[in-house]
Amino acid sequence: MATSAFQIEGATTADGRGPSIWDTFATQPGAVAGGDTGEPAADHYHRWHADLDLLAELGVDSYRFSVSWPRIQPSGRGGVEYRGLGFYRRLVEGLRERGIEPFLTLYHWDLPQALEDAGGWRSRDTAFRFAEYAALVHEELGDVVDHWTTLNEPYPCAVAGYGEGRHAPGAREGHGALAAAHHLLLGHGLAVRAMCERAALPHQFGIVLNQSPVVPVSPSPADAAAAARQDTLLRRQFTDPLFGGRYAPGLAAMFDGVSDFSFRHDDDLEIIGAPLDYLGVNYYYRLHVAEAPYREPDPALRTAADIGVDTSRLPDVPRTGMGWPVEPEGLTEALVGLHNRYPSLPPVYVTENGCVYPDRSDFADHERIDFLNEHIEAARTAAAAGVDLRGYFCWSLLDNFEWAHGYKPRFGLVHVDYETQQRTPRASYRWYRDFIAAQHTS
Ligand code: FCB
Repeated sequence: MATSAFQIEGATTADGRGPSIWDTFATQPGAVAGGDTGEPAADHYHRWHADLDLLAELGVDSYRFSVSWPRIQPSGRGGVEYRGLGFYRRLVEGLRERGIEPFLTLYHWDLPQALEDAGGWRSRDTAFRFAEYAALVHEELGDVVDHWTTLNEPYPCAVAGYGEGRHAPGAREGHGALAAAHHLLLGHGLAVRAMCERAALPHQFGIVLNQSPVVPVSPSPADAAAAARQDTLLRRQFTDPLFGGRYAPGLAAMFDGVSDFSFRHDDDLEIIGAPLDYLGVNYYYRLHVAEAPYREPDPALRTAADIGVDTSRLPDVPRTGMGWPVEPEGLTEALVGLHNRYPSLPPVYVTENGCVYPDRSDFADHERIDFLNEHIEAARTAAAAGVDLRGYFCWSLLDNFEWAHGYKPRFGLVHVDYETQQRTPRASYRWYRDFIAAQHTS
């Protein structure tokens, strides 16, 4: 089961927490649907105890959560804010008491605003600040956490955040988005290095990437080329440096005139590509791609979001409440594709997979049950095909703040009434509990 700090915690000013880019972004008119903000979320900061009981009743053996950087370093640098840290220590100890293995993610999109003010992920310095923060958290929680994930999904951080302006900090820049992607990867590598240097302990280090397989809508060379560009931007920009020892071929040519890639320094590839213990794959949907004209004629104005592709031509299959096509075979394809592309790929976890459907009054979410069942089966198919698959985390335990969509989409196996903060397990919660129990007896 997986969650993230900003999406569930609320309590955005408690115990010395500083503002993050998502606090700032959410206050900009029109940035988040319904004008929703990080308050109240699921008030998990105060209700974590009951939420851990929900996890324990579910019977999961692992739980993926993230640490809020601005709770630990309110201005992104300097010493530890021990009140914030204390929350995560209690959380982790609470998990261990319940026999649940913590999978800690250091960065799930909530950059301290002070670092954004200094350039954010456009700036190389942010990578070093991230490594410093990682080392601090590792120093403090290394005795109780074995699984350390650096980043969640650097692609949307860079492209939706600095290219498309759909996510915090809401920028629309070409060079800035590409620099952000590189600095996120560099920060990952520096963080792993800093934590490894400290660890005489048998810790595992990994990164989480969103992996939508990209399918051309037709066999035409133009659509195939558009699909290759999308794949380069979305996946290979990250996986080639991490697991292939090189920058994605074609990336620099795609953005000729947008960026000079001067943010790439000697030795960065070596730092980024240091061996990992696991890769986390988040899968929600496949992307179906056709060629499209570039939206802006002047290449200097192009952003990293504009690569001449049209992703609006969806296949004729059922869709979730997010409008995402339901294609479980895409999960098999994502996992097998990575396995085939990178001989040195580390073991893999599915670190997020889930869906949204309109609620019924009795919370009988049969569509979600079918969705999860089919996707778990698709993951098993990949394992049978040779992928070293170590586990599956469902997104998500609780309804939560779904970024620019606000609170309307409900991804939880447990319904949250945001007025009363009452938790009501949906039918999928009971199904998942029984499913897990059946794995232990079979
Ligand atoms: C992923 C994010 C996660 C959640 C799901 C629906 O891209 O990592 O926080 O919003 O999408």
